[in-house]
Amino acid sequence: MIRTEKLSKTYRMGEVEVQALQDVSLEIKGGEFVAIIGPSGSGKSTLLNMIGCLDKPTSGAVFIDGTDTGSLTENALAEIRREKIGFIFQQFNLIHTLNALENVALPMFFAGVARETRLKKAETLLVKVGLEKRMYHKPSELSGGQQQRVAIARALANDPGIIVGDEPTGNVDTEAGDAIMNILEGLNGEGRTIIVVTHDAEIAARAGRTKRMRDGKLLE
Ligand SMILES: Nc1ncnc2c1ncn2[C@@H]1O[C@H](COP(=O)(O)OP(=O)(O)O)[C@@H](O)[C@H]1O
Ligand SMILES: [Mg+2]
Repeated sequence: MIRTEKLSKTYRMGEVEVQALQDVSLEIKGGEFVAIIGPSGSGKSTLLNMIGCLDKPTSGAVFIDGTDTGSLTENALAEIRREKIGFIFQQFNLIHTLNALENVALPMFFAGVARETRLKKAETLLVKVGLEKRMYHKPSELSGGQQQRVAIARALANDPGIIVGDEPTGNVDTEAGDAIMNILEGLNGEGRTIIVVTHDAEIAARAGRTKRMRDGKLLE
């Protein structure tokens, strides 16, 4: 379902070059739960951004469902990001002026879903993550763990088969992190593919498979 082939990424900042990824080849099958671990700066976020088609590699390829994403137009790439992949970030990245319901409904607006349908679906998704009593709260009126659960509901808006999380439990306490992992495991149980970057060995231990990174390389 997801395959990277000799993926490399070099960032150039003036005279300085940073090789953030080097020849990373990885295959993730549909329905897997994979954790990616490694020290800060080892390239985990860079790899996740490539898998999520948020950024393009310097060389190498990313295949999603057999499609070489490097061969796609910007529009086709945006469609893959919108329809096939749900993103969860360490900082939640919610829109502060919108309440929980509106945040979750937003990706459906961009997918052209009618207003009533998207609000109904957003409601169902917030119930699913246990936030039925927080639908009209703004992010600032929610705890970190609750904000992340809104972000998970938002990631599910267009019913993606793949969920990628970049340290999704990195900014919440242990209990909230546990609740987030329970939700991710439930989503995996529905057959969704989950890829989570984490610093936390306990979180990683709950994944079906762990891949370790160091200095831009995937270790065996
Ligand atoms: N936009 C960028 N411009 C320049 N260097 C970057 C950029 N993003 C990441 N890097 C560098 O690439 C390396 C890998 O970063 P990253 O993928 O964020 O690591 P991790 O997520 O494992 O902490 C680091 O050395 C980082 O400083
Ligand atoms: Mg990172």
